[in-house]
Amino acid sequence: MSAPAPNRGYDLVVVANRLPVDVSVDDDGTPSWTRSPGGLVTALAPVMARSAGAWVGWGGAPGLELEPFEVDGTQLVPVTLSQDEVAAYYEGFSNDTLWPLYHDVIAPPTFHRQWWDAYQRVNRRFAQAAAAQAARGATVWVHDYQLQLVPRYLRDLRPDVRIGYFHHIPFPPLEIFAQLPWRRQVVDGLLGADLVGFQRNGDAANFVRVVRRFTDLTTRGQVITLTRHGKVERHVRAAPFPISIDSQAFDQLARTPEVQKRAEEIRHELGSPEVLLLGVDRLDYTKGIRHRIKAYGELLEDGRLSPQHTTLVQVASPSRENVGAYQQLRDDVELLVGRINGDHGQVGHAPVQYLHQSFPMEEMAALYLAADVMLVTALRDGMNLVAKEYVAARSDERGALVLSEFTGAADELSGAVLVNPHDIDGMKNAITYAAHMEAREARTRMRRLRRRVLGHDVNAWSTEFLAVLTAVPLREGHV
Ligand code: F6P
Repeated sequence: MSAPAPNRGYDLVVVANRLPVDVSVDDDGTPSWTRSPGGLVTALAPVMARSAGAWVGWGGAPGLELEPFEVDGTQLVPVTLSQDEVAAYYEGFSNDTLWPLYHDVIAPPTFHRQWWDAYQRVNRRFAQAAAAQAARGATVWVHDYQLQLVPRYLRDLRPDVRIGYFHHIPFPPLEIFAQLPWRRQVVDGLLGADLVGFQRNGDAANFVRVVRRFTDLTTRGQVITLTRHGKVERHVRAAPFPISIDSQAFDQLARTPEVQKRAEEIRHELGSPEVLLLGVDRLDYTKGIRHRIKAYGELLEDGRLSPQHTTLVQVASPSRENVGAYQQLRDDVELLVGRINGDHGQVGHAPVQYLHQSFPMEEMAALYLAADVMLVTALRDGMNLVAKEYVAARSDERGALVLSEFTGAADELSGAVLVNPHDIDGMKNAITYAAHMEAREARTRMRRLRRRVLGHDVNAWSTEFLAVLTAVPLREGHV
């Protein structure tokens, strides 16, 4: 690899698997784009707006070859992935090897050497694209598990830049990470960064333990010391930076008369149930959707919740539909929903309203406002921003949050009713408790939740991360 030598370039370069827009090309070859609603886009929008920056990422479709283009003052730099690379790097290594491995092996990870080859090749391409955009002494912020080798490749190309990496999903315990045949290379990839950020303290501690086990580097608390020829070369800090949402914007959205009216309409359209439960997830096996629906079905069966007067709305947005485990999950969930509705439904009323769709933010805010109980029962989740959105929407200080202790959010959201989603009886008790919670208790809990969510928003998250990163002294290097 040869290092590019930019005369100018951007002071801030974000590198993420996806661009903040979805790009498509019309039949006549004209490209068009729509803003993608993902959490990371919202998270970084204010930072990008403050400094003229570049964003390196994939346009979301195979074979797209596009020149860089500008959106709202940010230079978007598309990385091309062939059909085979989408299959091997994205669906394969990222989402069928790393994703299950990093989420407590809830599904068995698949290890294929060809997928690993594609992962290295694509990570190198992202690093080259970032190197070509960064000004001398720039800050480059790399995101997530799809790009763990980018920090190392980029440092080799551009030793003059500061490199931050943020890991949005859990970092697994040593004993699980150790299964990865390429564990040493992944650790080395991440150690190319100056700062490696995680959602929780536990994730950062797992990483430091992995470094101690698979390298001979010394660590002290959060700091890992890299040496060359017996001399200290540089330090890498591994620390927690829990991500959040644009809480104010969400709070404001949920207060608009349109959203408030829509929330009332939703309850009405559902037949004004006494208890409205809500689940909102990507259709992913880490989210505990089956466990939650099973618990709900048993509550109807036991008569602890009335099938006539209770509704569970489950929004399950389509995700990674070419990966086998996701196809299996869809079948399982749809079978379960069909059974419950078959056993407990009536003409004009289904106890589970299952929506395999994505909705705009306005509709989501209305659903959050309409729901008496929000169910977040993930088996493992880096953070879970749905939980935070629910809280931000509830300026009426009503509603209850049932939250899995296996989410990053559980470390912060002490006003929630915490559950272990593997314990179906415990979850049934928690759902019943939340459904019948006294208004006073619900208010006290929601106030506590809102203090945290409104007091620590995504802007605070990115500001804190970048403040720690930019405090790293710049190094001399060739460009
Ligand atoms: O939670 C990790 C993550 O990669 C998010 O950044 C993203 O919104 C979500 O999973 C969906 O990912 P994908 O890009 O695979 O659709």
